[in-house]
Amino acid sequence: MRVRDKVVVVTGAASGIGRAMALRFAAEGAAGVLVADLDGAGASEVAHRIGERAVAVRADVSVEDDVRGLVTAAEGTFGPVDLFCSNAGIITGHGLEATDPEWTRTIAVNVLAHVYAARAVVPGMVERGGGYLLNTCSAAGLVSCPGDAPYAVTKSAAISFAEWVAIHYATKGVKVSVLCPQGVRTGMFEQGIAEQHLTARAVGASGAILDPDTVADEVIEGLAAERFHIFPHPEVAEFVRRKADDPDRWLAGMARFVDSLEA
Ligand code: NAI
Repeated sequence: MRVRDKVVVVTGAASGIGRAMALRFAAEGAAGVLVADLDGAGASEVAHRIGERAVAVRADVSVEDDVRGLVTAAEGTFGPVDLFCSNAGIITGHGLEATDPEWTRTIAVNVLAHVYAARAVVPGMVERGGGYLLNTCSAAGLVSCPGDAPYAVTKSAAISFAEWVAIHYATKGVKVSVLCPQGVRTGMFEQGIAEQHLTARAVGASGAILDPDTVADEVIEGLAAERFHIFPHPEVAEFVRRKADDPDRWLAGMARFVDSLEA
């Protein structure tokens, strides 16, 4: 899938990875980019930077009507949505001490938002014979995330949901990719810095922290190749293989790693 001449929606696009993707899609010649975020002013700044091929919409992705509204707005302005990037996400920074409201909010933003996006766009894509969903998940959803329980669990659920959509709609022309980074210099990274570093160390990474633009490069490549997993950090793919090869050894290694943090 090439984004040239395509209509694209990006959520969480006021900053970080979403912003970098929105700008890159525009640079690649997208016909229209709908820049969505809870931060309306930030979204407007990004849309303004892109120019007439972009519109900004303030939306809370945990509210289904808001997500539907994004699709309606994109269709009304540019035409049917070819690519929906469900990218907004939050992190709590908490383990077992995370409160019920923190769990509920994280489930809504990190999981249900992907469900709302799929409900809003997949039927139209099937009717038109094709479309693409790109869901930003995380390496933490594949290999857990020492420290932050709601984040690890919701990112894992998000990957599982993307797999579900992929296997149910592949033959109807709908492609799905999951973007799984593990340390990108963004607002969230600053907020969840301990967890992000821990995930990087847990996967045996050098701790290399990427810029959002590098992630956007990887997204363009991953979409062109229509890869289900898009791993901006290559060591994540290797770690996932090791986990699949010997899950007991993986679990024991992770437990020793977490112990060493507490020592
Ligand atoms: P960021 O904090 O820079 O951007 C997140 C954006 O989502 C913000 O603009 C925020 O206003 C928006 N947002 C939050 N809740 C929202 C809601 N309910 N409705 C609409 N917009 C909302 O963070 P970053 O890093 O760019 O995060 C983007 C995605 O990448 C997230 O899903 C995150 O979990 C994922 N990710 C980030 C990693 C990192 O190291 N930065 C690593 C792995 C995954």
